[in-house]
Amino acid sequence: MTTPAPSSFDVRPLEREDRDQALDVVWRAFGWGYRQDSVDDVFAGRSIEADRTLVAVDASSDVVGTASAYSLRMTMPGGDLQPVAGVWMVTVAPTHRRRGVMTAMMRRQLADLAAGGEAVAALWATEAGVYGRYGYGIASWRQPIEVDLSRAAFTPHARDLAARSPARLHLMSPDDALPHLTAIHDGILGARPGTLARDADRWQFLLGGGDGRPPAEVVVAIGPDGPTGYAAYRVREGKPGLVPTGVVAVQEVSATDPATHAQLWRYLLDLDLLSTLVCESRPVPDPLAHLLVDHRRMHARLDEALWVRVVDVERALGARAFAAPVDLVLDVTDDVVPANAGRWHVVVAEAGGTAVVRRTDARPDLSLDVGDLGAAHLGATPLHVLALAGRVVEHTSGAVAAASAAWSWSPTAHTAEIF
Ligand SMILES: CC(C)(COP(=O)(O)OP(=O)(O)OC[C@H]1O[C@@H](n2cnc3c(N)ncnc32)[C@H](O)[C@@H]1OP(=O)(O)O)[C@@H](O)C(=O)NCCC(=O)NCCS
Repeated sequence: MTTPAPSSFDVRPLEREDRDQALDVVWRAFGWGYRQDSVDDVFAGRSIEADRTLVAVDASSDVVGTASAYSLRMTMPGGDLQPVAGVWMVTVAPTHRRRGVMTAMMRRQLADLAAGGEAVAALWATEAGVYGRYGYGIASWRQPIEVDLSRAAFTPHARDLAARSPARLHLMSPDDALPHLTAIHDGILGARPGTLARDADRWQFLLGGGDGRPPAEVVVAIGPDGPTGYAAYRVREGKPGLVPTGVVAVQEVSATDPATHAQLWRYLLDLDLLSTLVCESRPVPDPLAHLLVDHRRMHARLDEALWVRVVDVERALGARAFAAPVDLVLDVTDDVVPANAGRWHVVVAEAGGTAVVRRTDARPDLSLDVGDLGAAHLGATPLHVLALAGRVVEHTSGAVAAASAAWSWSPTAHTAEIF
């Protein structure tokens, strides 16, 4: 193993003249190949928020690292939409790795957020081993699924349910479907923690074509009172032959009622000339398993989804609901944002209420790292499981059970899109 040469670097906000070099670092780091769009095109719209982007520059003022954030709005337990910093574009030039460039950028980004940004940051990690050290914890989970279409029969109950939907299905281009998709998405936004508000750029990113990817097919269910659901998918043609081998890759299925949900799945599972249905991100647990006679043909794998970082304990806990009343003192460690460290008295007066959080010197009931508070923040990673893993330590009998019941949330958090 070679030891990297010592080097000095600075982390500072992106300036206009850094943009070209910054994009080169990003494109190379993610292995995206040749960059076709001009710098202005890439920075147009909100695909990169230039004013939320940091760069690391070396002694020659060359850009050697980048870190950015989207200004997201995410549903918290209880249904409120809260601002969240969607961290992404964390890249370091291969020539400057393993000498602390990422660490310096992540610390600067969190310091900036703590000084007046969002109370919570979230990200999708390319590698599991990277972000725990900065106080992020795994806050939601997803299942990539693969369904054998030859064995995807519905139960009699599911067949009846789908048949009872009064909606008719309409195939549309993403552009034509957009007003319907927006209405449906806005309608379900508050139902599940982790759901993100979407603007036109985000819809385009999810459903549009480009980089060799065709635009999605969109099927919209429209009932007597308006749209009630949609499915977005892309078909990958199989090899020529007598037996179909094509794949339908489902982007997402969204419905406002169980009958439309069943109807849309029946549509997808009945597409002809295909052998397999895949979907990268299904919620855990997935209601689809309960529509199928043979759910074992729905091969599912448990994967991590969002990593969450509580940037400001007081504000973050005051901006989500808790499932049960609780009155506890937490002793929190935080090696990156010192203002979070120490003892906090957390009081939730009633089920469904938010927490009032105050500094205290009282004896702690529980000790935990801020990464574990992040993991528990969307209600999908139970504190009692973190306690079994030795990450949450109980000092008062019953405190883990009480905290776990309060922090957990149903339905479980799910974020359909990777950002
Ligand atoms: C991941 C990446 C940003 C790390 O940058 P870096 O400047 O080399 O990271 P640092 O030197 O600050 O490393 C900090 C720590 O993280 C560890 N680390 C770095 N990359 C890691 C990886 N891919 N997996 C696990 N640990 C990693 C380092 O070993 C170091 O550990 P230590 O503090 O115990 O010594 C860089 O390798 C990269 O650009 N990779 C490709 C793009 C990517 O995956 N980005 C992440 C997007 S989510």
